[in-house]
Amino acid sequence: MDSSDFIGFLKSRSSVREYDDEPLTQSDIDYILSCASAAPSAGNLEAWDVVVVTEEETRSALAEAAFSQEHVERAPVIFVVCSNYVRSMSRYGERGILYGLEDATIACTCMMLGAHARNLHSCWTGAFDDDEVRGILSLPQHIRPVSLLAVGKGHSPAQHTDRMGIGEHVHRETW
Ligand SMILES: Cc1cc2nc3c(=O)[nH]c(=O)nc-3n(C[C@H](O)[C@H](O)[C@H](O)COP(=O)(O)O)c2cc1C
Repeated sequence: MDSSDFIGFLKSRSSVREYDDEPLTQSDIDYILSCASAAPSAGNLEAWDVVVVTEEETRSALAEAAFSQEHVERAPVIFVVCSNYVRSMSRYGERGILYGLEDATIACTCMMLGAHARNLHSCWTGAFDDDEVRGILSLPQHIRPVSLLAVGKGHSPAQHTDRMGIGEHVHRETW
């Protein structure tokens, strides 16, 4: 892949919230998980974990916990990407809270792009009630759910979302 292929790949991804009934294959799921495993992490501690949810009843409960976002129920698989604070804080103390969130976020980004590479569609879902998700999945206290990554086979939209101009983000030398 050259650099123009890479930016083209990034720009061709969109959040998709409608999916066909087709389930993901085990090979798709394994591929997406291997993308998480390839992510960098602070001190290589991999302070992330993921709960793979395919059961309709659990997806439905997660959709409720996500303030009734229907795509969470409709997607055949929800990867609940979590931060594992014990792993990161055991070495980094308070700083480990931030690293744990970063590790989970990077893992989720790799999974989202892995789904795209596999011609699947996804929607990163960050709006949910943490405690409800904890209860539904029996998450231990040191595990924080960071994202519900909904993945399925859908259709890319004709138009991609706009972005701010790069100049609005970038500061040269100092702020
Ligand atoms: C941290 C984060 C939280 C998000 N939460 C939600 C969400 O709760 N529901 C949703 O439908 N989309 C959610 N999204 C998807 C964004 O709405 C989407 O990425 C953004 O509008 C840009 O569109 P694109 O992904 O198609 O490029 C989230 C994305 C991120 C990165």
